[in-house]
Amino acid sequence: MTGIAGKHVLLIVTGGIAAYKALELTRLIQKAGGTVQPILTRAATEFVTPLSIGTLAGHAALTELFDLTREAEIGHIELSRSADLIVVAPASADFLAKMAQGHADDLASTTVLATDTEIMIAPAMNVRMWEAPATRRNVAQLRSDGVHVVGPDEGDMACGEFGPGRMAEPQAILEAITAHFDAKAARGRLKGLKAVVTSGPTREWIDPVRYISNESSGRQGTAIAKALIAEGAEVVFVTGPAKAPRPAGCRIIEVETALEMDAAVQDALPADFAVCVAAVADWRMAEAHDQKLKKTPDGTPPTLELTANPDILAGLSQGDQRPRLVIGFAAETENLEANAARKRKTKGCDWILANDVSAQSGTFGGPENSVILLTESGAEPWPSLPKSKVGHRLAARIASHFGR
Ligand code: C5P
Repeated sequence: MTGIAGKHVLLIVTGGIAAYKALELTRLIQKAGGTVQPILTRAATEFVTPLSIGTLAGHAALTELFDLTREAEIGHIELSRSADLIVVAPASADFLAKMAQGHADDLASTTVLATDTEIMIAPAMNVRMWEAPATRRNVAQLRSDGVHVVGPDEGDMACGEFGPGRMAEPQAILEAITAHFDAKAARGRLKGLKAVVTSGPTREWIDPVRYISNESSGRQGTAIAKALIAEGAEVVFVTGPAKAPRPAGCRIIEVETALEMDAAVQDALPADFAVCVAAVADWRMAEAHDQKLKKTPDGTPPTLELTANPDILAGLSQGDQRPRLVIGFAAETENLEANAARKRKTKGCDWILANDVSAQSGTFGGPENSVILLTESGAEPWPSLPKSKVGHRLAARIASHFGR
């Protein structure tokens, strides 16, 4: 039995060429044992008819906010709360903007605003619209509001362009829905515990076009977050501009600079435990330049004056709202254990996962990680493991620390 069996999904279809795929998604959800109540925006009805999707779903498709008969029967507030999950597929750029802003001028937007049910969106739009700063802001806002995002995929588009913006395939959306319900149903050992995880690099701007950063891929942080989520923890994932796809099933806060990461972590408190995996830049410009730095006629390079960034891990470990367990990483290229042990003391965290990031280790950006766990009771070397396994092993250790 899959995680969808017996679940009721409110499927909101917004306008776009991908709307026809909502028919296939409806069929797949039903085949997996779920039920579907479709809601179509006015624009969606230009692409699929309420009759076709309603017939397939076995529930009349709803289209208008002020459908008085329907309103008298259940009302849109109740409608939005009767579902186990709300899925918006396809989610147009316009609908994302409405969601991010909290507009409520039709049945679909009112439903997502009035709900206390979790929401999953499958964006679909032209590549330029997907990459537009406004859409990126809206998606970041929605992620941080706890909305789950599936896709979009990269590929040929109906408009003739190529790039990210194609709606995820119905099968992939089905899998994301299944994973969502499976994670909810999991009797994880970390259920009831809240975690803050930092991940990825930070980016410190020198001027509008240049920055100081590092090669952290965010893979280890993502793997740890996924393992914690799978064990039922409530995770706030604070990430810098990392290449790794974001984990599903948690709140995601996208940041760029160390100062932003620090503020986001403080905002996420209180928490039961924290895992600081981010490769935070140690320094930022003492003064950021508003204009691009120019070469001088005689070729003298500029002097960049730097100032120290806050140490987020040390701040968490020594702060008023200290989580009960604070875990850091120590990326070292030499004297791994001794340097990591010193770091554990000076920062005041409970555990340190020390890893060798020398060029020959292949850790940075690679799939595997070889770590030593340092706790108050000593050093415990772990074998070289895929980053996902490091995540699971750490989640298991955290669970036993909390007596689970
Ligand atoms: O001092 P170092 O950068 O080696 O420490 C690494 C650990 O400290 C990691 O857990 C990293 O996430 C955290 N850190 C931090 N804020 C900083 C620097 C490092 O949270 N400014």
